[in-house]
Amino acid sequence: MKLEATFETPADRAAGNDPPLGAMVEALERRLGASIAAMQGPGPRLADAMGYSLLLPAKRARGILSMLTAASWGLDWTDALDIAASLEMVHAASLILDDLPAMDNAALRRGKRSNHLVYGEATAILSAVGLMNEGFAIIAATSGAAAAYRVELSASLGRAIGPRGLTGGQDADLGANASAKKWSLHEVEQIHAAKTGALFEAAAEMGTMLAGISGPRLKAMGDFGMQIGIAFQGFDDLIDARAASADAGKDVGKDKGKPTVVSLIGCDRAEIRANELVRSALGRLADSGADRMLLEGYVVALIDGLRQRGLGLTPTP
Ligand code: IPE
Ligand code: IPE
Ligand code: MG
Ligand code: MG
Ligand code: MG
Repeated sequence: MKLEATFETPADRAAGNDPPLGAMVEALERRLGASIAAMQGPGPRLADAMGYSLLLPAKRARGILSMLTAASWGLDWTDALDIAASLEMVHAASLILDDLPAMDNAALRRGKRSNHLVYGEATAILSAVGLMNEGFAIIAATSGAAAAYRVELSASLGRAIGPRGLTGGQDADLGANASAKKWSLHEVEQIHAAKTGALFEAAAEMGTMLAGISGPRLKAMGDFGMQIGIAFQGFDDLIDARAASADAGKDVGKDKGKPTVVSLIGCDRAEIRANELVRSALGRLADSGADRMLLEGYVVALIDGLRQRGLGLTPTP
């Protein structure tokens, strides 16, 4: 699907945004909206439920990361809109599942009632399955990449969702919740790597693959995404511990009694650890040989936003 991209919004112009993050989010959200609008099925309910969670205001961090990665290798960010859309669909699906009574049993998501409270559990589960598969369908059909790349992109997305990725990580997270075992920092970060890091890894990998980059440069970019993802989950756990639900736009206090970096080493050291991971990630970005300015600027702003939200200073997104 080809969409006309805006190159900067008035807010981008006022803030002197380069890259034009406002325009990138707008173009991505138009892409997502067009996908939902084009959905056909025997009834409108499933598409409504998918669109409900997908289109509520959100940071779009994984999508933006993939587009900025493509731009860092000399492509136009608009070339990666399909990749960004697929990542955001998979991510929205993971949130719908995460909020179910069988998982975190959360009532608020993206500032509104969770999907299952609006549409019922059965439709919520089906809308998550629908979004994940729609994400794959977009990648398989994207006009932005040659057929050989589409296979690689699909494999990267599949790894991010699979047992070593977010589904495996979410299952381990729930298992850890229920267990009386004493967890080490390394073990908890392994779970975070799977449940959250893997999709960030895919975002950086996919934006790089689109530019035809492979080998050690692709590996360095994957590591960059992975480490950002683990740090992201660390800051998210700080938000759970310290922010108000109205500011976070979602339930907080859900991690009480479960092994997180915060519960293991406390808020202050958890923040130091997350910052360490960000520094290490930026090191891998430098190793990759990509033009690092765009991604570095974005990551610093993203993390600062999360940090402030963790302190209850700024509402989300
Ligand atoms: C929340 O993700 C779930 C985690 C993996 C920590 P985000 O903080 O990116 O949520 P949205 O997309 O902005 O709603
Ligand atoms: C969820 O982690 C990670 C996902 C893969 C969805 P959390 O359970 O901490 O995410 P939030 O805090 O509900 O957004
Ligand atoms: Mg969870
Ligand atoms: Mg949760
Ligand atoms: Mg959380």
